[in-house]
Amino acid sequence: MACKASFMSSNRRPHRPLAGFVTLLILAAAALPAMAADITLPDSLAQWYKPANKRQVWLHTMFAMRRELQATREYLQQEDGEHALKWANRLAEHYARMPEMVPEWRDEYDMASIDALIEKTAARDFDAALRASDEVTRDCRSCHRQYQALTALKFRWPDFREQRVVLDDGSERDYDEHMALLSTTLNRIRIASDDERWSEATRSLDALREQLGMLGKGCASCHDDAAPRERILGAETEQTFDQLAQSLTAADGKRSGRLLGEAAVAVCARCHGTHRLLSDMRRQLFD
Ligand code: HEC
Ligand code: HEC
Ligand code: HEC
Repeated sequence: MACKASFMSSNRRPHRPLAGFVTLLILAAAALPAMAADITLPDSLAQWYKPANKRQVWLHTMFAMRRELQATREYLQQEDGEHALKWANRLAEHYARMPEMVPEWRDEYDMASIDALIEKTAARDFDAALRASDEVTRDCRSCHRQYQALTALKFRWPDFREQRVVLDDGSERDYDEHMALLSTTLNRIRIASDDERWSEATRSLDALREQLGMLGKGCASCHDDAAPRERILGAETEQTFDQLAQSLTAADGKRSGRLLGEAAVAVCARCHGTHRLLSDMRRQLFD
């Protein structure tokens, strides 16, 4: 809007170099939506994912096509026309569902190569059929390069803003609020150690363990098995915290500093490497 206004005012008293510059600005601004479109995903995709759909339909169509393409190619290489045709037909069926599911990606679908694959396979022209399957593979890759990671991130990575941490008294707290508290508590241990206030440091360590305990109860809302929780908040972490408690009691600043660093990596950084990084990326790209 600002560009446009200054363009119009410069029009009254024509000033060529400035007008040219402003035109450039407008052209640059016009190019922006095209760049942004690279991370825009079609609306129709949402209906093939949770929560709109019970199953991850788009993803399962993909798994099926990978299997079908593999089978088709392996049978073509063995010059087994009958089996190759069976799998090529299945592939074509799933392939044809893509433009029905997500019509916005019409430029990404290569129907001609699929048709050629069926035709050459039916004619038992194995070399030509394999070449057509190469073309199909190229087409799969071209769409994936642009959209695969974005789609997985947008539709399959959980939104932690919908997650609550259930506290010991039964009340609930937002995830990011609990995180801010963890960070404050962790730093209190460090500050108190630095000032050689050992009992204050120990109190903060107890608080941290308690807060992590409450966080850990929520792992099960996404993870069916105990292994992910064990890996980050399990026996090894408990052992590090026990050693840290001992070193605080012993007023050993050097050792407690090292153990606290170890715990921060094993607990905070390890969990952030997946959960927080992807959540932050998802928010930056799509919110
Ligand atoms: C589930 C594994 C997990 C563990 C363990 C974990 N975090 Fe986090 N942390 C997250 C996630 C997920 C987010 C992003 C939350 C969001 O998007 O709202 C986050 C965000 C944060 C933030 C940013 C909060 C904000 O306001 O955006 C801080 C600070 C933080 N964590 C500190 C810590 C500290 C310190 C520890 C270790 C004592 C820790 N976290 C342990 C998952 C974890
Ligand atoms: C029009 C775009 C498009 C085309 C064409 C396409 N795909 Fe995909 N594919 C995607 C998207 C988007 C994803 C990410 C889905 C997700 O992670 O939920 C994906 C994911 C996949 C995956 C999952 C990968 C993994 O390990 O998580 C496989 C396998 C796959 N595609 C196979 C194929 C095959 C084989 C073809 C060609 C016959 C093909 N795709 C053509 C868009 C496309
Ligand atoms: C909102 C859902 C959600 C919550 C809550 C959650 N996770 Fe995860 N976590 C995931 C998803 C999704 C993945 C990736 C796919 C998978 O492994 O299931 C993952 C992966 C992991 C992994 C394997 C990857 C890695 O970093 O090694 C670990 C370990 C893990 N989570 C630990 C935890 C712990 C510990 C907690 C609780 C403190 C937790 N998760 C809470 C969703 C969640």
